[in-house]
Amino acid sequence: MSGNSGTEQMSKRKPRVFSGVQPTGNLHLGNYLGAIVRFVDLQQDHECIYCVVDMHAITVWQDPQELLRSTREVTAAFIAAGIDPEEHIVFNQSQVSQHAELAWVLNCTARIGWLNRMTQFKEKAGKNRENASVGLYDYPVLMAADILAYHADRVPVGEDQKQHLELTRDIAQKFNNDYAQRIAELGLAREGEDGGFFPLPEPLIQGPATRVMSLRDGTKKMSKSDPSEYSRINLSDDADMIAKKIRKAKTDPEPLPESVEGLEGRAEAANLVGIYAALAGLTKEQVLAEFGGRGFAEFKPALADLVVEKLAPINAEMKRLLDDVGYIDSVLRSGAERARAIAEPIFDDVKRIVGFLA
Ligand code: TRP
Repeated sequence: MSGNSGTEQMSKRKPRVFSGVQPTGNLHLGNYLGAIVRFVDLQQDHECIYCVVDMHAITVWQDPQELLRSTREVTAAFIAAGIDPEEHIVFNQSQVSQHAELAWVLNCTARIGWLNRMTQFKEKAGKNRENASVGLYDYPVLMAADILAYHADRVPVGEDQKQHLELTRDIAQKFNNDYAQRIAELGLAREGEDGGFFPLPEPLIQGPATRVMSLRDGTKKMSKSDPSEYSRINLSDDADMIAKKIRKAKTDPEPLPESVEGLEGRAEAANLVGIYAALAGLTKEQVLAEFGGRGFAEFKPALADLVVEKLAPINAEMKRLLDDVGYIDSVLRSGAERARAIAEPIFDDVKRIVGFLA
């Protein structure tokens, strides 16, 4: 899509990336390979803003001390994995009030009918929808505010967030339409765009090829909410625990196939080969060229060694960083300050557009 090239060229700035991670529970291999590695790579040719979304977290109950611990843990994981918090921005959402303020304005743009279609709310609210928090229902509007508050161009997310990204675009589009005349009068239309104030953010969807699945059920995503600890490898697991979890991972009795086609219908085998490939920086074909025809009794120890080799330094660096909470907090404070410097003038424009005294 060439939607934002006009502005990029005008201001000569790199495209802006925004993404968020919820500080709930432990980070696992799925978060690492699915999101964090991607975030690290995007730093090359983007201006990146990575947000620990604590306001999203409390849409379901969070123990306060645990929330704060987890906010710092996600921050430490970002840095340990190679995100540079000086070159880019790392902060927690609740420090920058424009997220909540813009969410309110966008609440008045978004339609109830749109939110009623959100499948993630239905899943998370479950049967007892009457008892879900209003915040959980409104979650996608806050997410739209996160992204639009920075005029972000690109948003790396998992497949499960695709619908929320589409909603974000719908909200941006409706705001641009509803206030089109006012935006033009104030001279706030983006150059090279369709005359809108908010750019329509482009999703960078993580494909199924790199999705990490549960070690207990290769058809389910690796998830922090899975009741079985053996379903996932946490970034905080030590080498023994990692080896044990991989040893116990579900497989089938066949040896590994010689080619990728042979992984079809073998979800658990495909998952383990996928994890190996992602961590080794190889294709699945290359992994099978080495391990095809060999059984899991040989493959699992090799995989365990690789996971330990790749995660151990991150694990150690996270521990080191978390020993110095003062440093982590200073990263989040400095990040918030720089985030605010971007979001504040944008929200001041929103105020003018809507007719608030700015
Ligand atoms: N909802 C996202 C998730 O659970 C987290 C998130 C919140 C986010 N705000 C965002 C992701 C803005 C991208 C952009 O994964």
